[in-house]
Amino acid sequence: MADQLLSAVSDYVSIPESYVRPESQRPRLNEVIRGANIPTIDLGSEDELQIIAQVADACRSFGFFQVVNHGVPLESMQKMMAVASEFFRLPPEEKAKHYSDDPAKKMRLSTSFNIKKETVRNWRDYLRLHCYPLEEFVPGWPSNPASFRDVVSTYCREVRRLGFRLLRAISLSLELEEGYMAKVLGEQEQHMAVNYYPKCPEPELTYGLQAHTDPNALTVLLQDPNVAGLQVLKDGKWIAVNPQPDALVINIGDQLQALSNGRYRSVWHRAVVNSERERISVASFLCPSSSVVISPPEKLVGDRARPVYRTYTYDEYYKKFWSRNLDDDHCLKLFE
Ligand code: SIN
Ligand code: FE2
Repeated sequence: MADQLLSAVSDYVSIPESYVRPESQRPRLNEVIRGANIPTIDLGSEDELQIIAQVADACRSFGFFQVVNHGVPLESMQKMMAVASEFFRLPPEEKAKHYSDDPAKKMRLSTSFNIKKETVRNWRDYLRLHCYPLEEFVPGWPSNPASFRDVVSTYCREVRRLGFRLLRAISLSLELEEGYMAKVLGEQEQHMAVNYYPKCPEPELTYGLQAHTDPNALTVLLQDPNVAGLQVLKDGKWIAVNPQPDALVINIGDQLQALSNGRYRSVWHRAVVNSERERISVASFLCPSSSVVISPPEKLVGDRARPVYRTYTYDEYYKKFWSRNLDDDHCLKLFE
């Protein structure tokens, strides 16, 4: 029901019980490491070998990095953020048209993460869109705000270009042919989650999105340049990611962890909320098409008797991911 949306209510003075985490699962915001940040890679540098070395290092150690001079125009990023904010400010009855809690839907507005499976809710509403091929999906996207389809499809195209450029760098950084990852991932789908985290009166008790890893291959995250919220787990500690106005955040998803035979890591991350300001983020996911078989190249299996993960199709993986609660173990563990 659309009245489940957080954005249907203008302001909360306390959080409803259904959002309150048990004591042991709370974010403990005062223990978060601030000022350390994830690596930043300048994709505009002429030293390609250096870029590849930095990608290798970031994917191995953090699974996360920010990129600057990445080719996605700042104007396009700003328009994307503006249209996202306009969308969530639409009247509740307008947004209600898009509401669904069925993860199989290719366009839906929903709340929390997967309300049919979870026991505690997240302080988040989100619009989820399938994006590629654009001709197939754009006609099903919201047409209000009027510029939505135009702005979002332009942004999607640019992010896709960046995604493929990163897959090339990732392939080279694993000493594979430059087109290796793009080829094995097949006709890649691209999905988007436009996240809206309202101001939260009790941010110590809940999450915007609890700790999880991304089930896809590669994620490109655009976030509000003025409001922090993303945190990444490193050596058992949560590190706050400082947003940089012109940067995009990149992370390795579960499929690149499997395809690199565990060399690159799909790490735990989470979004926390705050009582001062709402926050918007836009995650773009490059995903293998459903029939793609995930299995690392022999070169990366090396002397081991077999790969770290058994062979599976992306379809099998994705269904398993959505059939669970985010609070469970790393989904890849089920494929060891
Ligand atoms: C996500 O991990 O999907 C969202 C993270 C964020 O909002 O920063
Ligand atoms: Fe994520």
